[in-house]
Amino acid sequence: MTLENYWQGLLLLKETIANTSEEVRFCFINFGDKCEVYINRLPVPNPKSSLVLVVVDTEADIQHHQATAFYLDNTILVLDYVYELDEETIDFLATYMPYCFLPLQAKLRKRAVAITHFAQSLDGKIATNDGDSKWIGNEDNLIHAHRMRALCSGILIGSHTLNYDHPSLTVRLVEGSNPRRVVLCSTESDFSSLQSDSDNPVLVIGSGDDPCLENTEYVQLSADKNGKIACSDILSLLFKKGLYTVYVEGGSATTSSFLAQKAIDVLQLHIAPLIFGSGLDSFTLPEIASVDEAVQFDRFYFKPIGDTFMFVGEMHHD
Ligand SMILES: NC(=O)c1ccc[n+]([C@@H]2O[C@H](COP(=O)([O-])OP(=O)(O)OC[C@H]3O[C@@H](n4cnc5c(N)ncnc54)[C@H](OP(=O)(O)O)[C@@H]3O)[C@@H](O)[C@H]2O)c1
Repeated sequence: MTLENYWQGLLLLKETIANTSEEVRFCFINFGDKCEVYINRLPVPNPKSSLVLVVVDTEADIQHHQATAFYLDNTILVLDYVYELDEETIDFLATYMPYCFLPLQAKLRKRAVAITHFAQSLDGKIATNDGDSKWIGNEDNLIHAHRMRALCSGILIGSHTLNYDHPSLTVRLVEGSNPRRVVLCSTESDFSSLQSDSDNPVLVIGSGDDPCLENTEYVQLSADKNGKIACSDILSLLFKKGLYTVYVEGGSATTSSFLAQKAIDVLQLHIAPLIFGSGLDSFTLPEIASVDEAVQFDRFYFKPIGDTFMFVGEMHHD
């Protein structure tokens, strides 16, 4: 069994969890040539598959022998490998499988769950002063970002990132379907890099009048006197449109406003072995007077990504 088989199983798991109306207590995933997901019931045995049990509700009466507990957003998921799995597979599943269950949290909160990602230098910069950010992260980081795009139902950026980077925001380096592309934008911007896919129109959210762009859907939300839309309104809108998880890919102003408004659930920071000494800070937040006012995390871990590492922090909001 290769990681590719496990990846196929995760894509199926993500779809199944997002589409179920059942309360998920546990599920079995048969990772194999033909992946299968069984929610709250026993699987049809298949000796050619690798069977993994995930216990979502730890009160559920399930016998498990070799279990790895992992946490996300105060939900304890117990990953129980019915057959022996190697270290690489366990690490892979423990990294990506929790995101497949986030639609359950979204349905409880009635808003999209937000995960954000940056590739930054050692001194916390995500671009030069002229806006160059290609490529701060390594190849493994790009593959990671494409995996996350495939596991999320939406991907969101701010208008400056659109204008600087001209991204297509699609899944290209791994298998998986493209997330819905979402841009926060109230000023004239260049949407040409996003407009070719007519099956996946861009969702543009702004506070002004509909700019009537080709191949886009526009939603107007009210903004404060500085033109800022409340991030909670953005996440509620995404939820209403059936987007349960959103991957916020920057830039600094966008992610900072989500972070300042406690609208980020998971933060992923890829740390590149570079020092800029100048440039655009990853985050700009209101000034604090003491260290204990700094943003803190409920849980965090550091994960190797190729020749460097990624910080993953979970935030808890009441
Ligand atoms: N290294 C990395 O991982 C990475 C990732 C992404 C981007 N980047 C870099 O980041 C730079 C761009 O970042 P940036 O901070 O200048 O800009 P940005 O966050 O990309 O875009 C800011 C704009 O987005 C809209 N916006 C964001 N939050 C909003 C809210 N709450 N309500 C309403 N509108 C909102 C506004 O658009 P309007 O002005 O149109 O209203 C705002 O001016 C680029 O150089 C890019 O290359 C780096």
